[in-house]
Amino acid sequence: MRSAENPRRRRPWPPFSRRDFLRAGAGAALSAGPLAGVLSLAACQEDTRPASRAAKFAARYGEALRRAEAAGSPVAVTRVAAPAEGEVGPGQMYRTWLYDGAFPGPEIRVQEGERLRVVLENHLPEPTTIHWHGIPLPNAMDGVPDVTQEPVAPGASFVYDFVAEPAGTYMYHSHVGLQLDRGLVGPLVIEERAPHMSYDRDYVIVLDDWLPSDPTPASARASSGMENMRDMMPGMMGGQPSIAGQQMPLQDPARPAYAALLVNGKNPADPPVFELRRGERVRLRFINLASATTFRVALAGHALNVTHTDGQPVEPVTVDALVLGMGERYDVVVEADNPGVWTLAAASVLGHPAPARAVLRYGGTRASRPAGGLPEGLTGGRVLGLADLIALELNGTPATPDRSFDLTLSWGMMMAPDEWSIDGQRYPDAESLTIRAGERVRVSMNNRSPIHHPMHLHGHFFRVGRALKDTVLVPGHMGRVTFDFTAHNPGDWLFHCHNLYHLESGMARVFRYV
Ligand code: C2O
Ligand code: CU
Repeated sequence: MRSAENPRRRRPWPPFSRRDFLRAGAGAALSAGPLAGVLSLAACQEDTRPASRAAKFAARYGEALRRAEAAGSPVAVTRVAAPAEGEVGPGQMYRTWLYDGAFPGPEIRVQEGERLRVVLENHLPEPTTIHWHGIPLPNAMDGVPDVTQEPVAPGASFVYDFVAEPAGTYMYHSHVGLQLDRGLVGPLVIEERAPHMSYDRDYVIVLDDWLPSDPTPASARASSGMENMRDMMPGMMGGQPSIAGQQMPLQDPARPAYAALLVNGKNPADPPVFELRRGERVRLRFINLASATTFRVALAGHALNVTHTDGQPVEPVTVDALVLGMGERYDVVVEADNPGVWTLAAASVLGHPAPARAVLRYGGTRASRPAGGLPEGLTGGRVLGLADLIALELNGTPATPDRSFDLTLSWGMMMAPDEWSIDGQRYPDAESLTIRAGERVRVSMNNRSPIHHPMHLHGHFFRVGRALKDTVLVPGHMGRVTFDFTAHNPGDWLFHCHNLYHLESGMARVFRYV
């Protein structure tokens, strides 16, 4: 791959910069003021009394707002969350809840370092929030109900205001209940000021699973535990298929019966078409914003040069296919050197429903439909693995951790197959994981369930292997993944499985520090 930029010129993330220093100073100034009592109370114990929680939210919000305001005039956006009619293919309409009536929600695109101010108007019949998935912003802007803010009541609005950095491919979504699976989700791109690779076009590829009816928790759907057990048996017995060498279960009892898989809101009968020209380099930003589908992605006739994971630049690596857990993002560059009309496909690793499709069409091509079938990379070829990812901005080897957590990703087994938890505790009835500012924290996850889990940490990038990510797939069948992060962004940060039904069942914890 050609490289336009010397990657070493980019500043490292997380930056231990003047800004962090100021942030720490601002906190000190605040705690000397009239709110000092409230803040130190919040610091020492989990005070869940509504009045003190509201005061903590207000103090943190005020501080975050002052930081945003210091960055100058904002890019101003409004998102109205409201009941709306969606269309996933010709004539296939359904009633759901959307942002600004669109699915996916309208793309937000800003430049690295710009101030982004989003007014959320809630026209839904229930409370909502917006979470800015992957962006390490101030805690008060993180959009987690009852953890970073009071949920926004029907008819009310809330202002999110923060500096958009670092550059990368992100997403925004509701963090209340199962609202994400109704369609309250959209892409967010923070453009680099100086990308580490050159490209001519930039397309966002949003992958989703489509539920035409209202989502219900798995526990309400389960007819009997034993039926769910039988569904899981093939996977537990070591059946096919596999991703990146890992066995995958054939079923997840928590997964609803999705009607279709979608690219950019369109079902395979009405695939979106992306134009390109011979000789171009096309950047594709893949975002898995599905609620319960892990995708394997491949493009017929072309290799994928992976340049970023979860928005963070990596040393380019060429593969035939990628696997994306819920909440993961990958940017790739495709060399347009094979004129024609080609299928881009994204298949569920559980095998159903049918793969989502898009079409890449070279200018000057006569055909309007792809000639061949599904890309070979869906079933064969080289699949990207975690070990292939090397962050460009990695500083040395991981330091010895100051604190370690050994967490079991657990499952209720045959007695309660719809109960997903961490160390047997189900959020919100779960203890917080207390750490201290500045610490190097190591988190090991041991998967004692037959299902893979995309584990996501709010507010931080973590180091896993030699990559920096915010979401990582922990394979089923005793899979184990360890990551390290530095506690440089104080607050209460949710850490959870990004399978929405596992999260809803309680597979979450809060990392807490001041
Ligand atoms: Cu997209 Cu709590 O996450
Ligand atoms: Cu999970």
